[in-house]
Amino acid sequence: MCGIIGINSSKPVSATIINSLKKLEYRGYDSAGIATLSSGLINEVKSEGRVDNLEKNSSVLNMEGTIGIGHVRWATHGLPNSINAHPHSSQNVSVVHNGIIENSTLLKKFLVGRGHKFKSQTDTEVIVHLITENLKTENIVNSIKKTLKALHGSFALGIIFKDEPDLIVGARRGSPLAVGYGPNENYLGSDSYALKSMTNKITYLNDGEFCVIKKDHIEFFNEDGTKINKKVLELSSEEEKYDKGDYKHFMAKEIEEQPVTLKNGIKEYIDNANNDINIYNIPWEKNEISSITLIGCGTAYHSCLMAKYWFEELTSLDVNVDIASEFRYRKNRFKKDSLYIFVSQSGETADTYAALDLCNKNGMKTCAVVNVIESSIARDSEFVLPIHCGTEIGVASTKAFLGQILILYILALKLGQLRGDLEKKVLSEKIKSLKELPKLVEKTLSIDSKIQNVSTTFNEAKGSMFLGRGFSYPIALEGALKLKELSYVHAEGYPAGEMKHGPLALIEEGMPVVVLAPRDNYYKKTISNMQEVIARGAKVLLITNKSSDEIVSENIWQTIEVESTNQDLLPFLLTIPLQKLAYYSALKKGFDIDKPRNLAKSVTVE
Ligand code: M6R
Repeated sequence: MCGIIGINSSKPVSATIINSLKKLEYRGYDSAGIATLSSGLINEVKSEGRVDNLEKNSSVLNMEGTIGIGHVRWATHGLPNSINAHPHSSQNVSVVHNGIIENSTLLKKFLVGRGHKFKSQTDTEVIVHLITENLKTENIVNSIKKTLKALHGSFALGIIFKDEPDLIVGARRGSPLAVGYGPNENYLGSDSYALKSMTNKITYLNDGEFCVIKKDHIEFFNEDGTKINKKVLELSSEEEKYDKGDYKHFMAKEIEEQPVTLKNGIKEYIDNANNDINIYNIPWEKNEISSITLIGCGTAYHSCLMAKYWFEELTSLDVNVDIASEFRYRKNRFKKDSLYIFVSQSGETADTYAALDLCNKNGMKTCAVVNVIESSIARDSEFVLPIHCGTEIGVASTKAFLGQILILYILALKLGQLRGDLEKKVLSEKIKSLKELPKLVEKTLSIDSKIQNVSTTFNEAKGSMFLGRGFSYPIALEGALKLKELSYVHAEGYPAGEMKHGPLALIEEGMPVVVLAPRDNYYKKTISNMQEVIARGAKVLLITNKSSDEIVSENIWQTIEVESTNQDLLPFLLTIPLQKLAYYSALKKGFDIDKPRNLAKSVTVE
C-alpha cells in the first residue's frame, strides 16, 4: 500500500509533488522518491524514511522539470531502503507502483535473459524493464497494453518516458487510481485527497483501464487498448484542515473527538423530533433479506463482530461475520436473500474491496459503512452509509471504530423495526439512550490519570490478555489490537469463557490481564472467569461500569469504572479506556504513535 502522484504541467512540479506525497504518507512511510523529466533526461531522488527526509535532500530543491511522478512506499518486496524506494527507472522509462506483481520472478528471469540490468530487490522494477523492452517494437499505447497484459497481481502505476515531455501514463488493476484536471495541467494520484489542493475535478479509473495524461487533455483506454470516455466528477472543493491543535498526537485528538463523531452520526441518522431512524432509502424490501454477512479487516472486522451481537439481539436475521482476506478466497455459498455489509474507514482496503467485488460479480446485495465517501468501496456498493467522523490520520483507528459501530447499531435498530422484531416502545427507549451516549463518552474520556498509571505495567510485561464475553468480546479484541499495534508488545484478546480451553496456561504470576465485565447479562460469568485468572497470579485490570452494587471479588489489582447506560451501548464506553491504555503505553515508550512501525493507514495490497 503505497501512494503515487503524477503531475504534467508547464510549471516546475517537484515542490507540488513533495506536498502531495505528504498527504499520501498515510499509505506508507518507509521511503519516498520523485522523478522528473528535464532536458531530455529522467532525474530521480529517493530517500529512506519519511517525505521530510526526501524534502531535506538538497538534490530535490534543485530538481527541474515540469512533468514528474512521486511515491511513498510501504515495502512488500525488498528492504525499506533508498535503493528499493520508487520511482524505478531505466534510461527511457520511470515508474511508480502501488500493488504487488506476483509473477515478477519469472518476468525478471526473462528480462535478464534479454540483457536488462536490475538495481533493486523490488517486484516493480520488472515493469520498468518490460515497458523498455516493449518500446523497442511498439508505440507507447501498445507497449503499455502489452506490458499490462503480462503482469499478474495488482497495480496502480504512474509512468513517464524520457522521449515524451508531455505525457504521463496511469494504469490500474486492483489498486485505486484517480486523475485530476487542472488549468493547463493534469494530475494522477492514488486518491482525490492527494489532488485536492490542485483540483476537485476527478475521474476514477476502473480495473483494467489505463490513461494517457497530457497537459491539456486526458485519454482513457480499456484493457485491450480501445479508447473510452469517462465521466468527470466534481467533488466538494472544501479542503479539510488537519492539525493536532494542542494535542501531541493525532491519535490523542481523535480519541477526544469521539463525542463529536457520535453526535454527527446521531444527527445524520436519528430523527430527533419523532424518535425514529433516518434511513429511508434502503434499496431492498424487508422480505428480500433474511441473512447478513459483515466483512472487514482489523478494527473494521471488530466492528463487524460487534454488530453481530446487536443484529442478533435486535433482529431475527441470521448474521455472519468474515475477515475479508479469508472470505475472498473461500468457496462461498452466495444466497439471493443475503445482504453483504462492508465496513472500512478508508474504503480502499484491498481485501475488503476484493470481497465486495466478488459479491457484486455474484449479483449480491451490497452495503458499505465507510468514512471516505469518494472511496472505491463506497463507489462500488449498492447502498452507502457514511460514518461522518472526519479524516482519521492516526494509523490506529479510534474515532472511526466508534463511528462504525454507531452506524451498525442504528442499522440493526432500523432492520429490527422494519422486520417488526422491535416493539415501538423498546425502539423509542433505545433511541433515547443513544442520544445520551455522546455525553457519557465525554465523561468517560476523563479517566486519564488511572490509565496512565497502569499503562507502564502493560508495556513492561512480556505480554497481556484482554478478556470479555458477549458484547464485550469484540471490544477485548480491539483493545488488544490497539496495544500491540502501538506498543509493540504481545497482547491477546480472548473470549473469557474460552480461557480454560488452553490460554489459561499462559497466565503466570504478575501477568497483566484486562477483564471487561460491565454489569450486563454476562457479568456474573465474566467475574467467575476473572477469579480463575486471579487465582493463577494474573494482575487484573477490571473495567466495568459505575453501579451501586459492590464488586464481589478479591485481589483485583486495579478497577476502572466507565459511565453507565443500557447494555447495548456499554461497548462504546468500554472502548475508551482501552484506546487510552494503548496510547499511554506507546507514549511512555516514546514510539511513533501516529505512524507505528511496519504499518500504514490504508492497506491497498492484499
Ligand atoms: O480502512 P479500513 O477500515 O478498511 O482498514 C482496516 C484495517 O487495516 C484497520 O482497521 C487497522 O486494523 C487499524 N490500523 C487498526 O487500528
